[in-house]
Amino acid sequence: MKEQNIYDNEDFFESYQKLRQNKGLTANDLIETPQLFELIGNVKDKEVLDLGCGTGYNDRKLMEKGARSVLGIDLSTKMIEVANKENSLDNIEYKVMSMNDINKINRKFDLVVSSLAIHYIENYDSLCKKVYNLLNDNGEFIFSCGHPMDSAPILNDYSDNFVIINDKKYFLLSDYNNEGKRISHWFVDGVETYHRNMSHLVNGLINAGFKLEKMVESYATDEIIKIKPKYKDQREHSYYVYFKAKK
Ligand SMILES: C[S@@+](CC[C@H](N)C(=O)[O-])C[C@H]1O[C@@H](n2cnc3c(N)ncnc32)[C@H](O)[C@@H]1O
Repeated sequence: MKEQNIYDNEDFFESYQKLRQNKGLTANDLIETPQLFELIGNVKDKEVLDLGCGTGYNDRKLMEKGARSVLGIDLSTKMIEVANKENSLDNIEYKVMSMNDINKINRKFDLVVSSLAIHYIENYDSLCKKVYNLLNDNGEFIFSCGHPMDSAPILNDYSDNFVIINDKKYFLLSDYNNEGKRISHWFVDGVETYHRNMSHLVNGLINAGFKLEKMVESYATDEIIKIKPKYKDQREHSYYVYFKAKK
């Protein structure tokens, strides 16, 4: 199975870095990161694995919140280079590795986290089982991924995923149950992600043996919309979904 490594594409990487440099004003900073960390809660003394850690921003934050150690893995060499440069701390290790290969890791964790990376991999069910096997008893798997209500339509460009009727925006849900690969334009053509419906996301965890503790759908508060009016769409339409599951 050949997996796409789009974050190592020069043009994509540069555009993505530029987007994230808009510190404090991105959807990650205003919506996704705070909502994910609220679900993560207390990490004191925990040994953590981060799947698709990117530039390691969340890993530094986990250490600052008291984690004992963090192993961040990512498929992209470019992202790991930035992580080592910008978010290197004692007890954080970054490794170029696919999350499809985590069964090769020879240690256990109290917490496995992942932020907006799981929709890049094809075999979610198998990932859930591998994560389960890497966790200590009562360990937790807490992650965010693209919300199925946002990834459903088969479209070239997801900024076109709505129609306007009587001046109101209606988002598209066609192909919701037609799961699988989506190929679209995000900075560059041909970016591959995977759409899974909500029951698939839930049952992947249950079938792996997890107890589902909480699920949250992303939302933009009035305060967020005041800072960035563009995110008013995210009040009625969830772009991300978060799961907290326990072994
Ligand atoms: C949207 S970025 C999120 C990065 C980071 N988690 C954050 O929140 O800032 C998605 C990351 O997933 C990584 N990724 C994609 N497929 C992967 C795979 N199969 N294994 C590990 N990482 C992967 C990408 O290289 C990229 O760094």
